Amino acid sequence: MEALNRRTFLRTTVLTGAAALALPEFSDAQSRPSIERKTVVISSGNGIAATAKAMEMIQQGNDALDAVIAGVNIVENDPNDMTVGYGGLPNEEGIVELDSSVMHGPTHRAGAVASLQNIKNPSLVAKMVMERTDHVLLVGEGALKFARMHGFTEENLLTEQSREMWVKWKENLSTEDDYLPPHTIDDKNIGSKMSEVMKTYGTINCLGKDQQGNISGVTTTSGMSYKIPGRVGDSPIIGAGLYVDNSVGAAGSTGRGEANLVSCSSVLIVEFMRQGKSPEEACLMACKRIVEQTKMKRLQDDQGRPNFNVTFYAINKRGEHGSASIWNGGTYCLNDGTSNKKSDSAFLYKRI
Ligand code: GLY
Repeated sequence: MEALNRRTFLRTTVLTGAAALALPEFSDAQSRPSIERKTVVISSGNGIAATAKAMEMIQQGNDALDAVIAGVNIVENDPNDMTVGYGGLPNEEGIVELDSSVMHGPTHRAGAVASLQNIKNPSLVAKMVMERTDHVLLVGEGALKFARMHGFTEENLLTEQSREMWVKWKENLSTEDDYLPPHTIDDKNIGSKMSEVMKTYGTINCLGKDQQGNISGVTTTSGMSYKIPGRVGDSPIIGAGLYVDNSVGAAGSTGRGEANLVSCSSVLIVEFMRQGKSPEEACLMACKRIVEQTKMKRLQDDQGRPNFNVTFYAINKRGEHGSASIWNGGTYCLNDGTSNKKSDSAFLYKRI
C-alpha cells in the first residue's frame, strides 16, 4: 500500500481551535448575485437517481430540502440498495433499523430519527420531526409512535435478499455456536467463512443548493449491517453525518459511523469551508483528522493507518463541490444542472 496526498491536500494548512473559529465568515451572497443562482446537487456514489431527481425538482423551483429528500426516497424505496431503507441489511436479530437526518439551511432547523423500524422512508419522518416537534432527534419506539401518529405506513423492511444475507452472516459467525451453513459430509470448520460476510456501512447522503441560493441536506441509512440492536451511527447525528450552514455550505458522510461520531466531521468540513477551503480540501482535511484521531491498534493496519473507510461530500455557497475518502475507491454523484454523472472521490491512501 502506498500513501497518496492529493495536490490540493498538500496546499492545505490545518487550522484548529480558537484560531479557526475566530476567522471571518465565508459569504459572497451580496457581492456575487450570479453565483447565488448556480444550482448543484451532490450525493454518495449510490445516488445517481437521487441527484437526477433532486436537480429536476430544483429546476422546477422547489426548495433544496424537498428536492434532496425526494431524491433519496428513490434509494430508500429500492430493495436492491441493501444499505438504505427498504431491503437494508438488518441488525444482528434480523430487524431492519433505520437512521436519518435532514437539515434545512434557510431556517437552520434539523430533524432526525434513529433506530426506526418498519418505516421505509426515515428521511420523511426526520423532516416531520423538524417541522412538527420542538425536538431534533427521536429514537426507537418513540420515533415509530411519532411516525404512526403522522400516518406513515408500517411494513416489513426485510426483503428475501437481505434476510438471506443475514442468515449467511449468522451461520458463519462462529464454529462454536449451533447454527450451521449449508455443508457436506466432508466439510470441517463449519461456520467460519467470515471473509464472505463482511459488515457494511453503506448510506446515502445528498446535498443541494436551489435557485434561491439556499442549501439543505439529508443522510439516510440502515447503518452498520448486523449491528447490536439500538446501535446508532453518524447519519442521524447533526454535525457528524450531516451539517448545513446556509451562509457557508453543507457536508455529509458515508462509511464507518463510529469514526465520524468521535470527530464530528460534517460540522468540521463546513468550518474548514468557512475558513476558505474548497469543498474537496475540506473533505480531505476531515479525513486526515480521522487518521490522526484513530489511536486504537485494532482499527489500524500494519502501517498505523485506519483499516476502515469514510467518504465525505460537500458543497459551498458558490455551488462548488467536492468529495474525499481516507482510502481510494470512494465515488460521488454530481448534477450541476447540465449533466448527472458519477466521479471518483479524492483520497489520502491508495490500496495497491
Ligand atoms: N455511516 C453510516 C453508519 O455508520 O451507520
